[in-house]
Amino acid sequence: MSKKPTTPEKDIPTTGHTWDGIQEYDNPMPRWWLWTFYATIVWGIGYTIAYPAWPLVKGATEGILGYSTRAEVQAEIDSFDAANEGMRQRLVEADLNQISTDPELASFAQNAGGAVFRTWCAQCHGSGAAGAKGYPNLLDDDWLWGGDMEAIHFTVTHGIRNEDDPDGEARYSEMPRFGTDELLETEEIEQVVNYVMSLSGAPQDASKVEAGKVVFEDNCAACHGEAAEGDREQGAPNLSDAIWLYGSSYADVMDSVSNARFGVMPNWNTRLSEAEIRAVAAYVHGLGGGEAAAE
Ligand code: HEC
Ligand code: HEC
Repeated sequence: MSKKPTTPEKDIPTTGHTWDGIQEYDNPMPRWWLWTFYATIVWGIGYTIAYPAWPLVKGATEGILGYSTRAEVQAEIDSFDAANEGMRQRLVEADLNQISTDPELASFAQNAGGAVFRTWCAQCHGSGAAGAKGYPNLLDDDWLWGGDMEAIHFTVTHGIRNEDDPDGEARYSEMPRFGTDELLETEEIEQVVNYVMSLSGAPQDASKVEAGKVVFEDNCAACHGEAAEGDREQGAPNLSDAIWLYGSSYADVMDSVSNARFGVMPNWNTRLSEAEIRAVAAYVHGLGGGEAAAE
């Protein structure tokens, strides 16, 4: 390295700042540093011209290259959409019961349906579809309204007990409020609750079961069935199994009979496309409890 002739130290101007006897030289900035600095300024101005940069009241300047992350994502989504369009078309045109027999279609429906489920259904039915109190488990073969493809597709399309279905076809039924509306005496309610509990587990008071059976036949069998096996036409649950939508304790069953229940599920025909509804119906059908089509 060749050294430039150095200026004698005493001749270098100082800034006049002194700390503990140490003085600060007033040397010019190194050339390379200065040029780098100017280059960043030029680059910065160029960038704000080329790309979105300056905030405006709404949004920002667009930049002459017209780049936007949103447009980029949209373009990517559009390309996926275009690639899937053929499959979606096939899904919409397929016979509901044939979807599972076409491996390519079934696999597309499973994937697309799983994504729909995680976005739109999981908050009520649980991410694993196991449900919660008031929200049915969709993994088992215990169905309120029916578990074949047609039934599930109908339930998802129109929903249950909602007022929003534009076709007015939401599934509907209403259990009377036997306690609140004084349709039955407290004594009778206690009897029938004990009877219902005796069908699947231990009644709280076995001495009331026999009288409860009579109350049941007179007031409940029309919806829940003579053997309490349930009725899918009315979405009346099977009361003879140990699966409870609203809880299995004496207090829970007492509450169901006294105040009734009114589970509401949204209709999805205004929010999801037919392809998405079919995909999620196929997904739910494939979770384990799906039934074959009724003959
Ligand atoms: C706001 C909560 C909520 C959301 C979101 C929701 N559901 Fe439901 N779903 C319910 C309730 C409550 C019931 C039970 C209604 C009843 O008591 O009959 C139900 C019932 C069902 C049933 C009928 C089960 C049976 O046993 O017959 C199916 C099938 C179903 N839902 C699928 C879905 C799918 C698929 C989605 C997403 C597209 C979804 N649900 C989103 C609340 C919801
Ligand atoms: C008009 C039809 C109808 C009648 C009559 C009726 N139920 Fe119901 N019951 C239903 C429906 C529908 C449901 C489900 C409500 C829901 O899903 O939100 C239900 C739910 C229940 C549940 C909750 C089940 C669970 O899984 O948590 C119990 C318990 C019950 N009924 C008992 C009775 C008893 C006892 C009587 C007679 C005193 C009776 N019901 C009369 C239609 C009826």
